[in-house]
Amino acid sequence: MKLLLKGGRVIDPANQIDGIMDVLIAEGKIAAVGQSVEAGDAQVYDVSGKVVTPGWIDMHVHLREPGFEGKETIWTGTRAAAAGGVTAVASMPNTPPVADNQSVIRFIRDKAREAGWAKVYPIGAITKGSLGEELAEIGEMQAAGAVAISDDGKPVSNGQMMRLALEYAGMFDLPVISHAEDLKLANEGYMHEGYISTILGFRGIPSVAEEAMVARDLLLAAMTGSRLHIAHVSTAGAGEMIREAKKRGVKVTAEVTPHHLTLTDEAVQSFDTSTKVNPPLRTEEDRQALIKGLMDGTLDVIATDHAPHAREEKEMEFAYAPFGLVGLETLVPLVVDRVINAGHLTWSEAIAKVTCNPAGILGVPGGNLGVGKAADITVIDPEKTAVVRKESFYSMGKNTPFEGWELKGWPVMTVLDGRVVMQEGRLVE
Ligand code: DOR
Ligand code: ZN
Repeated sequence: MKLLLKGGRVIDPANQIDGIMDVLIAEGKIAAVGQSVEAGDAQVYDVSGKVVTPGWIDMHVHLREPGFEGKETIWTGTRAAAAGGVTAVASMPNTPPVADNQSVIRFIRDKAREAGWAKVYPIGAITKGSLGEELAEIGEMQAAGAVAISDDGKPVSNGQMMRLALEYAGMFDLPVISHAEDLKLANEGYMHEGYISTILGFRGIPSVAEEAMVARDLLLAAMTGSRLHIAHVSTAGAGEMIREAKKRGVKVTAEVTPHHLTLTDEAVQSFDTSTKVNPPLRTEEDRQALIKGLMDGTLDVIATDHAPHAREEKEMEFAYAPFGLVGLETLVPLVVDRVINAGHLTWSEAIAKVTCNPAGILGVPGGNLGVGKAADITVIDPEKTAVVRKESFYSMGKNTPFEGWELKGWPVMTVLDGRVVMQEGRLVE
């Protein structure tokens, strides 16, 4: 089976490609990228006016399986990915049981392969049960397919444990992904601590709860020489510390979410629990600093922190609802509309943050359109305008703060291993 994507604007930052070209796919692989590629017996898709990019990789996703199948499953989560133009996700280990051993890692990979809607790269836990007390079997998890370790959802509060994690992970060249939060400073808050929290009488999480932990982890990364990745950076101060550490040669990378790039704590005034997220939505000043961090390369990756919860869990008083929002099916239009069209990044710069950059950090294949590579491709219509409707999400999670947003620039085709899995926003069953 051959496919020819004809006449699109092909943007492949890893190979410094940005031009009107054809992409030929044969036997699930990229067979040719260039001008006027012979179609031969290939099925031809006219993608003129569309943007053709390597399949997007979302390196921060909660698929909820095993154990939380009432929120999402590997099947529904990877379908949401395909629908959203995402061909690969890295799955966070905070499930019951926690992905802290090789059998859970294998289970996730097997389930994902069976589902066949997107590639899933499991992230193993740093500590057993993510309890922060005992290191997980890092080498065994890597052998089973784990691409990084993280206790995401929780910090590793014990500094000695984090030091050991970095030292061990360093031996396997695995990145350690830090959920940077000092729980004592967070003080059971549930929104950003500032003017709005004061007005609402809501318990606040100060910026320093994140920044104190980022500072500690940067020091430990410098000391151990191991690779540290800071998840969901949300404050100006954290960004500034990462910028400085990079200048000093610390092996640190960092990600920012679409929601921290587009929303502030003002959104919490709606009392919509889908604005309750950890780390919390911060101030306009923080948001501007995050955009600056994206522009100057301090923030390497845009990742969603897709965190589905059941409707009844979110239909709670704000203080009692769980943290998290869904992001897989709004990632592409938010990046195109609010990052590229807003003039913050060029197409090529933005695409790098969702393709080759996460692939490089995780050491996974994909993220580029090199000949011979797996044909994982996202096709975007930069002119398509549509309104976010959570009821049409394939994800079981409907907890989006973007309901009703009109956005321009949507994925219109997802190709996975040479197979068209989504067209015009609908999955190809
Ligand atoms: O908002 C969040 N939700 N932040 C996290 O760190 C964890 C996640 C979840 O698992 O629901
Ligand atoms: Zn987290």
